[in-house]
Amino acid sequence: MTVLAIAMQKGGVGKTTTTLSVGVELAQMGARVLLIDIDPQSNLTQALGFDPTTIAHSIYEVLLNPTYGPAFATITTDYGIDLVPATLALAGAELTLAGRFGRELLLRTALAETRRAYDYILIDSPPSLGVFTVNALTAADSVLVPLQAHVFAFKSMPQLEETITIVQQLNPALRIGGIVVTMVDRRTSVNQVIEETIRQQYGDLVFQTSIPSNIKLVESPAAGQPISVYAVDSSGAKAYRRLAEEVAARYDNQ
Ligand SMILES: Nc1ncnc2c1ncn2[C@@H]1O[C@H](COP(=O)(O)OP(=O)(O)OP(=O)(O)O)[C@@H](O)[C@H]1O
Ligand SMILES: [Mg+2]
Repeated sequence: MTVLAIAMQKGGVGKTTTTLSVGVELAQMGARVLLIDIDPQSNLTQALGFDPTTIAHSIYEVLLNPTYGPAFATITTDYGIDLVPATLALAGAELTLAGRFGRELLLRTALAETRRAYDYILIDSPPSLGVFTVNALTAADSVLVPLQAHVFAFKSMPQLEETITIVQQLNPALRIGGIVVTMVDRRTSVNQVIEETIRQQYGDLVFQTSIPSNIKLVESPAAGQPISVYAVDSSGAKAYRRLAEEVAARYDNQ
């Protein structure tokens, strides 16, 4: 089983879209998949059609009471995946947890018993480096990095690498396991130049499949549906299906 943190300390690069789309595809391939929303923005929760203001239990309680385990807050979805949702209450948890001893290890502790129940646990991290991102990275076996085919996104990689080095004090095995180039617009050559630069710099870490810029990936979260349900034949859905196959091939052998 594999715990993947989908992380990048930059906003709007495709973390949530990648978590959801890869998670649903892995489930369609027969894997048992749990998605964890550990971002106060609750985008993953909302993209699955849930209203964060009416959710009974969330990752917030799981972090405050790690011995409950994620099952306490897990909801099943119509898409073959389970979800630990986030609510706006999570925004306040940053302060609540600030003084707590061992606050970096809460998610790792919470997942200890659950790991065996799933083939993949995908954790959707927020863009900021705070207690939630650190919890995601401490709990993870590997980091999956969405890298937008944009010059500034590419330049924020060293910052993430630095964070991973720090978190390795708590989780020595943590590595970047894969990089996926996202939002590639084939009509603009600058996008392709950046993709090529990323591939040259990071080599085999970069998945063969890159994710095209596709309007259906903007519309589907608003509709509360994964891309494979909202627009199964879209370029975005097809790319995420291929990416999920690569993810499965890369991690099944571990
Ligand atoms: N391949 C794509 N093509 C077009 N739009 C996309 C693509 N991937 C994601 N988007 C859109 O871009 C926006 C940002 O994507 P997403 O929410 O996945 O990023 P994020 O990294 O999770 O952002 P944040 O850091 O705020 O959590 C969303 O509106 C999403 O629908
Ligand atoms: Mg997000």
